[in-house]
Amino acid sequence: MTRRDTIESARQTFRDRFGGEPAVVSWAPGRVELLGNHTDYNGGLVLAVALDLGVAVAASPEDSPSPVLEAFSAELDDSRITSLDPIERSEIGWVNYLLGVLREIAALGVRLPSLRLTIASSLPFGAGVSSSAALELATAEAAFALCGERPDDPFDVAKLCQRAEIEFVGMPCGLLDQFSSLFGRRSCALFLDCRSLAFSRAPLGDEVALVVADTRVKHALVDGRYAALRRHCESAARRLGVLLGRDMTTLRDASLQEFLDVADRVDLADRRRAEHVLRENVRVLEGRSALESGDVARLGALMVASHDSSRDLFGNSCVELDALVELGRGLPGFLGGKLCGGGFGGATVNLVETRLVDAFTRELASAYDARFPDELRVFVTSAGEGAGIAGDPTAED
Ligand code: GLA
Repeated sequence: MTRRDTIESARQTFRDRFGGEPAVVSWAPGRVELLGNHTDYNGGLVLAVALDLGVAVAASPEDSPSPVLEAFSAELDDSRITSLDPIERSEIGWVNYLLGVLREIAALGVRLPSLRLTIASSLPFGAGVSSSAALELATAEAAFALCGERPDDPFDVAKLCQRAEIEFVGMPCGLLDQFSSLFGRRSCALFLDCRSLAFSRAPLGDEVALVVADTRVKHALVDGRYAALRRHCESAARRLGVLLGRDMTTLRDASLQEFLDVADRVDLADRRRAEHVLRENVRVLEGRSALESGDVARLGALMVASHDSSRDLFGNSCVELDALVELGRGLPGFLGGKLCGGGFGGATVNLVETRLVDAFTRELASAYDARFPDELRVFVTSAGEGAGIAGDPTAED
């Protein structure tokens, strides 16, 4: 489904379910990180892309003495009614992304009305392409539009959604997903320094397509593996602080060379995680330069190096993801590919020459399906616009 189709699907579902037109329809994309895997919560660097796949929310305010949320997910065919005063955690996973965001908005002093909303999505869930952040941002955009209030600084909106995910959903993520979903621009890659929040955009060009290849191997990030990796990184940063004799808040506060000089005195598991993160930061800078000089082949090679590092040092790959990158290497048009998001399953992102993308996807899927029982799901996508309110249906692109 294109962005336009997803928006129209949320709108039509609203009409079917509640009658009448929604007051607003919002859109928020998923993302892939091209480079900079697990660097965000380490104060590091990322090179990412907002996709033209995402989540649309159609919503209207309702009058009622005590505010409630009535939400329907078209993909899950599931509907829930729950109180917005007070807002308490639901036992239904997907509702918590909405409730977490609405609770953060209420905490700003915004008075929430009762809300009716429908959700449509073109993103695979749990594939590492940020369906969670897309749902959070689409909810936030719709709620802000309905309440007529919005923080001036877009980073405050991204951070509000991140807080919802950490505190309400229980996933100790960095800012990468929410940032990318909000700051995306058509045909552009996004660079973010997660320590200073300095960011920039660089054109990705039309000669390359992004192919998201979903293994359907489920990664459950809240199950503790993501948090465990994060703890290794934090422990490495503390140890480096002692060895280097200075305050270190995150791994970003040491250069790769400083780390390498003392690495043999860092616990082995922590050392491997830290080395991955610090080398990823370097790769992000190289990847940004490659993009700026139009060298997509170099960017692709860096992505493969990033994947190898996730597999060998960070330990967040799996057999299916490794096989996908290996298979990709031999196929027409392949420039580079790597796992994306938390890892342990989900999808790879592949940078592919646009003119060869059909042959690439066909051959990748058939080679993968010959080896694994679950059919590969492939999405040919590109860099899309960030979160916001969708315009008039007749004017949508
Ligand atoms: C998940 C998290 C992000 C980031 C990535 C890995 O998507 O939500 O904050 O840490 O994993 O780069």
